[in-house]
Amino acid sequence: MKCNLLQLVFNCYKLHNKPVVKHKLNLILQPLKKYNITAMMWFNKMIASILPHMPKNLVWIFSKRYIAGRTIDDAVRVSKQLNKDGYMVTIDLLGEFITELKEAEKNRDQYINIIETIQKNGIDGNYSLKPSMFGLLLNEEACYQNIRQIVQKAVDYGNFVRIDMEDSQCVDMEIKLFRKLKKEFPKNVGLVLQAYMRRTLDDIKNLSNIHSKNNRLNFRLCKGIYVEPEKVAFKKYEEINAHYLEDLEYILKNGIYPGIATHDIPLIEGAYKLLKKYKVPKDRYEFQMLYGVTPALRKSIIEKGHRLRVYVPFGEDWFPYSTRRLKENPKVASDIMKAMFVRG
Ligand code: FDA
Repeated sequence: MKCNLLQLVFNCYKLHNKPVVKHKLNLILQPLKKYNITAMMWFNKMIASILPHMPKNLVWIFSKRYIAGRTIDDAVRVSKQLNKDGYMVTIDLLGEFITELKEAEKNRDQYINIIETIQKNGIDGNYSLKPSMFGLLLNEEACYQNIRQIVQKAVDYGNFVRIDMEDSQCVDMEIKLFRKLKKEFPKNVGLVLQAYMRRTLDDIKNLSNIHSKNNRLNFRLCKGIYVEPEKVAFKKYEEINAHYLEDLEYILKNGIYPGIATHDIPLIEGAYKLLKKYKVPKDRYEFQMLYGVTPALRKSIIEKGHRLRVYVPFGEDWFPYSTRRLKENPKVASDIMKAMFVRG
C-alpha cells in the first residue's frame, strides 16, 4: 500500500506539468479543502509521514526553506544576511547518530574548520552541536574529548558552543557532558533543555549548583522534538506549554540566561510577561528561532527591542533534520505539493 502510494506521489511529481494530473489532484483536494478541515489535516500528516520514503531530490524541494544549504559558503551567505537584518545566528553542521568513532573525528575537524571560517567572515554568531555526532553513544570519553577541542577553538575566539539536546536516551549523558565542559570553560558553553520532558524542572534545579553571578548557567529552552513515551514526556500541547512557562519562570527568577526558543505565540507572550515581571535586562536573555520558520514573527520580536538568534543548519546530512521539521509542520509539505501539482 505504502509502495503504491509512493509510486503515485513520485509519478505525480514527474508528471506535474500534465494537465490531467493537475485536474485529478484538484478533484481530490478541492472537496477536502471545501468541506472537511479534519480530512485536510489528515492529508497533510499523510504527506509528511511518507516524506522520509520519498526520493531525496524530491524531499529537498520541501526542505530547503529550513536549511542554509549544503556548504559552509551557504552558511556564511545566509548568516551575513541575517546579521544585516538584525539577527544573531547559531551555526549548526547537520548530522547526528554515527556508527564509528572515525566519523566523530571527521566531524570534529570539520567543526573546527567551520569555526575558523565563520570567525574570519566576522559573523555575529555562535555554534550549536549534537553530541551523538561526536560519538556520545559509542564512547562517552571520546565524545567529550572531541567536543572539548571544538569548545577550545571557540574559546580562542572568545565564542560560545551550545550542546543541543537529543532524545531521552542521551539526556543524562548530555547533562554530564555539559557539567564537565562548564567546569573547564565556565563562560563558553550552554545546554538545551526540553520543556516536554517531565524531568526538566528538576534538571534545572540540580544544575543550579554550578550557577553563579559571574558564571551564569545558559540554557536554550525549547519544547522538544523527538518522539518520547508518555512516561518521560508530556504529550499534550497545554501541558507542554504550562511546563515551558514554569521552567522559564524558574530560569528568569534565578538569573539564569535563557535562549527562549519557540515560535509559539502564547509562549512568546508568556515570556514577555515574565521578562517584565522579573525586570530582566535586555542583555540577560535572547529569543531563538529556526531558520525558515515564522520569519514575520521573528521580525516583530526584534522590532520590540528584544534580541533574537536564528539557528542556521547546513551540510550534506540534511535529511533527518528536515524530515523532523516537515513532520512538525505537515502543512508546508502539502502546500508545496499543491503548488507543484495543482497550480502548476
Ligand atoms: P509549536 O510546535 O507548537 O509551533 C508553534 C507554531 O510555530 C506553529 O503553529 C507554526 O506556526 C510554527 N512552526 C513550528 N514549527 C514549524 C515548522 N517546522 N515549519 C513552519 N512553522 C512551524 N528540539 C530538541 O529536541 N533539541 C534541540 O536541541 C532543539 N534545538 C532548537 C533550537 C532552536 C533555536 C529552536 C527554535 C528549536 C529547537 N528545537 C530543539 C525544536 C523544538 O523542540 C521544537 O520542536 C520546535 O521549536 C517547534 O516548537 P515551537 O515551540 O515552535 O511550538
